[in-house]
Amino acid sequence: MSDEGELKTQGHIPVLVDEVIFWLQPKPSGCYVDCTLGLGGTSARILQACGKNGRLIAIDQDSHAIELAHEALKPYIDNVSFHCGNFRDLGAILDSIGVQQVDGFLFDLGISSVQLSDAERGFSFQEDGPLDMRMDASQGVTAGELVNRMPETELANIIFEFGEERLSRRIARAIVRERANSPLRTTSELASVIQRSVPPAYRHGRLHPATRTFQALRIAVNNELAAIAPALHQAVDRLAPGGRACVISFHSLEDRLVKYTFRELTQQSDQGMRILTKKPCVASDEERRKNPRARSAKMRVIEKIEESTELLAGVVL
Ligand SMILES: C[S@@+](CC[C@H](N)C(=O)[O-])C[C@H]1O[C@@H](n2cnc3c(N)ncnc32)[C@H](O)[C@@H]1O
Repeated sequence: MSDEGELKTQGHIPVLVDEVIFWLQPKPSGCYVDCTLGLGGTSARILQACGKNGRLIAIDQDSHAIELAHEALKPYIDNVSFHCGNFRDLGAILDSIGVQQVDGFLFDLGISSVQLSDAERGFSFQEDGPLDMRMDASQGVTAGELVNRMPETELANIIFEFGEERLSRRIARAIVRERANSPLRTTSELASVIQRSVPPAYRHGRLHPATRTFQALRIAVNNELAAIAPALHQAVDRLAPGGRACVISFHSLEDRLVKYTFRELTQQSDQGMRILTKKPCVASDEERRKNPRARSAKMRVIEKIEESTELLAGVVL
């Protein structure tokens, strides 16, 4: 792994960076899209690997992340174009700058440590802040609006489906009972309701009892899962022959979606895609030790087959 200091961009240590470079194989003068710019650590490595003629299209739906990423990308700033938007609109973003084809895509899904630790964003039960959780703070409903307005059954379903929380009904019931007295305003209030609603044994388990509910609300607020398959379809439409898309996910719901979408893409005869990672690529022991976020990271890679490779494969077979 390269110098950790270099990659620790203002509080976020990107994961699987060496592996991204290995699989993406950035080439001199290549054009790459980082669909989840974050603090720009991985983007900086891609640009470094491309050399002075490389080009990076950097997308994030969080305008604050884009501001912060300017710092990490300073040495390459002339080679980057920044776009504040959701990667589910990938095709339209590329159209808006007249780009038809690129050499590779990166999706490093989820949220950054900076978003998580900023109390004002409301992502974490460990920081006291407003119940917001929107990555794009300019639009959409907040977590507060969901927990205070959603019917109990719907809330329970979200907590079950997106948090894989087996106590979803119990937690939803407690939230609805609490909000009848007064609306839930802060992350601490919500965490405390959840904590009080679960049995004592669950309260002292390996995970904080609010972990899964917070994950579920974040996924729901940002409509995270719904963006993945459409974005991957748009990405492969724009891949140059031999180009690759690397997708890093952090929980089983995301990874399953990526796996099925990749399979679907290889079955579309017009796309000519092949999956390069039969099993997802995971972090080394060293990286897992240094960066706890890396422990749950899984990367899958898909490639657009070059005609010459296809012919070669035909000859060999
Ligand atoms: C795990 S961080 C990426 C970290 C990045 N690789 C780095 O080196 O700092 C994920 C980023 O993707 C952004 N993001 C998540 N879903 C998105 C979406 N659908 N569209 C655009 N950006 C998204 C988040 O706002 C966050 O900044």
